[in-house]
Amino acid sequence: MSAIAAIRGFRMYRGRLDDRKLDDEHLRQIIDAARWAPSGHNSQPCEFLVVDDRALIGEIAVIAMRCFDEFLASSPHLPQWVASFHRWLRWSREDLERHGDGIWFQQWTRTQWEELAGLHDEAAIRERLVAMFGSGGVPSKLIDTAPCLLFTLLDTTRRVPDFSNDMLALTSAGAALQNLRLAAWEIGVAVHEQSPLYDLPATRQAVGVLLGIPGHYRIVSGMRLGYRTKAVRSSFTHVRRPVAQILHRNGF
Ligand SMILES: Cc1cc2nc3c(=O)[nH]c(=O)nc-3n(C[C@H](O)[C@H](O)[C@H](O)COP(=O)(O)O)c2cc1C
Repeated sequence: MSAIAAIRGFRMYRGRLDDRKLDDEHLRQIIDAARWAPSGHNSQPCEFLVVDDRALIGEIAVIAMRCFDEFLASSPHLPQWVASFHRWLRWSREDLERHGDGIWFQQWTRTQWEELAGLHDEAAIRERLVAMFGSGGVPSKLIDTAPCLLFTLLDTTRRVPDFSNDMLALTSAGAALQNLRLAAWEIGVAVHEQSPLYDLPATRQAVGVLLGIPGHYRIVSGMRLGYRTKAVRSSFTHVRRPVAQILHRNGF
């Protein structure tokens, strides 16, 4: 497979994964691709932590559920969160194609979202969000049933001269992550980025404690990894902004 074919063909796999554990050789090839990514000063700041123990995966699924429920119950930033989420929602394939970005969200209707985004009272927003997104104590099935979770960690002691809030380390991590995803795509391993595994600081903290991750490592990605049980839906949500819209020449 050519690099361009892999880049253009790659899909996040959102379906159910087979129970089968990830083959060690596949895992090695994926991490090997990640380590060959470029990094600032060749600092190679990323390390990887794979979790394939069922009990640990279950505990991580519970942590992700609990931290998100706590966020819904107590965050003072819910209106901003709703607005930033709402901005990227698309309601049909045509809507998605017209925008060239965002996600086709089919879990809740456009009307439900518009009502939510129109609310101003903090308590009403919270109540509605808990009803829409709250777990009711049930951990995410996607995480709970994954045969394997892969965390990418940034070793903050491998910091390079950087005047911009770790921008160089984070862009280096992005390069390693995309190498990893494309290698997985080529060898037939499904990858599904799961931001609920690491986006909330409370989740990162609790996962770090559970897995004994030293304090100077920062979790920058968490994903499900495994083998597909069905074909990837090639027509689903695969749109991008056109080159002419994102390419600037000799000035903005
Ligand atoms: C940093 C990051 C976080 C993401 N988080 C999630 C996620 O939590 N759940 C999910 O289904 N997809 C997640 N994705 C996948 C994106 O939704 C996907 O890449 C985007 O919608 C484009 O999809 P496509 O490549 O299938 O066209 C994430 C991707 C990235 C790079």
